[in-house]
Amino acid sequence: MKLARIGILTGGGDCPGLNAVIRSVAKPAMAHFHAKVFGIQDGYEGMVEGRYRELSPIDVLGIINQGGTILGTSNKGDPFHFPMGERGNLRIVDASDQVIENYRNMKLDALIAIGGDGTQIIAHKLYQMGLNVIGVPKTIDNDLDATDITFGHDSARAVATEAIDRLQTTASAHHRVMIMETMGRYAGWIALGAGLAGGADIILIPEIPFSWDRVFEAVLKRSKGAKFSIICVAEGAKEEGGDMSVRQMDKKRTDPVRLGGVGELIAKRVEDETGLETRVTVLGHVQRGGSPTAFDRILATRFGAVALQSASRGEFGVMTSLRENNVITVPLQDAVGRQRLVPPDSQLVFAARAVGTCLGD
Ligand code: F6P
Repeated sequence: MKLARIGILTGGGDCPGLNAVIRSVAKPAMAHFHAKVFGIQDGYEGMVEGRYRELSPIDVLGIINQGGTILGTSNKGDPFHFPMGERGNLRIVDASDQVIENYRNMKLDALIAIGGDGTQIIAHKLYQMGLNVIGVPKTIDNDLDATDITFGHDSARAVATEAIDRLQTTASAHHRVMIMETMGRYAGWIALGAGLAGGADIILIPEIPFSWDRVFEAVLKRSKGAKFSIICVAEGAKEEGGDMSVRQMDKKRTDPVRLGGVGELIAKRVEDETGLETRVTVLGHVQRGGSPTAFDRILATRFGAVALQSASRGEFGVMTSLRENNVITVPLQDAVGRQRLVPPDSQLVFAARAVGTCLGD
């Protein structure tokens, strides 16, 4: 397989480990295949608008430990749902022909698309239109079914765990109820993992809708013993029969929903119903920033190396995936559009319950 010109892009929300993938594609591509590597700027937006630059070995030097992405990213660049104009004048158009044209102009032999489910759905469509695309899965949310874990998740979970550790000392000092809202969209992996690791007293995740009475009971019980409570709540958590808290709708994105607000909602109800002093921390983008953990650096490096190997074999329309500690490739067709949510009967949930954590049900 001729591998002379390789494009690489990072799409969707950033996460720690993106630069480690860029490095592990670019370094061997340049050193072993003597290929030219083109960094496409701001995800598919750059692919539509023809914004890219050739990377040099210097560009990928010393970036394994850097958060963010040296290429920039965007979650408003879906070529099949491309926003043109601003606000009152906003139009959504299909700009996929522009991507095909730019791919051909760049004379690419392969395009490596690093991103979450949205990025991989687009990668699959572009593959079906004839482009040599390979996907690499990232997201702090860990919500892709086709891989045991995505890189970025471990780093976000570590940040959230440290935040709980810090909240615990101040909660204990003031005898307060401390609520920490994590990201994660429709999946509760970050809240459950950090809640378990940080020893949260109550963990609320979208997959297990909560009852207000269970939450009130749990904090009142704690107030009589330890005298403080930590509630770790995923942004997508909702009460039984209720809906997720939506902060904003953004039409420029393929999925317009921006979640947020459930932490505030719970804080108000807990304080009103129990009389206990309550505070809320919304962890937000702190979870997405900063250096990747060693686990994420290694996984990202393995993903990038395997993606390049697949390209060298002419194997396209696939996504890298971790299965039983082995990095393999799976067809994009089978990988996309399938969310990996926390199974309510999973061992993580079982272990949380075993140590007395209230799951709100
Ligand atoms: O998908 C990653 C994620 O961080 C989610 O956990 C969160 O809901 C969303 O992105 C936030 O998006 P934005 O950065 O556009 O606010």
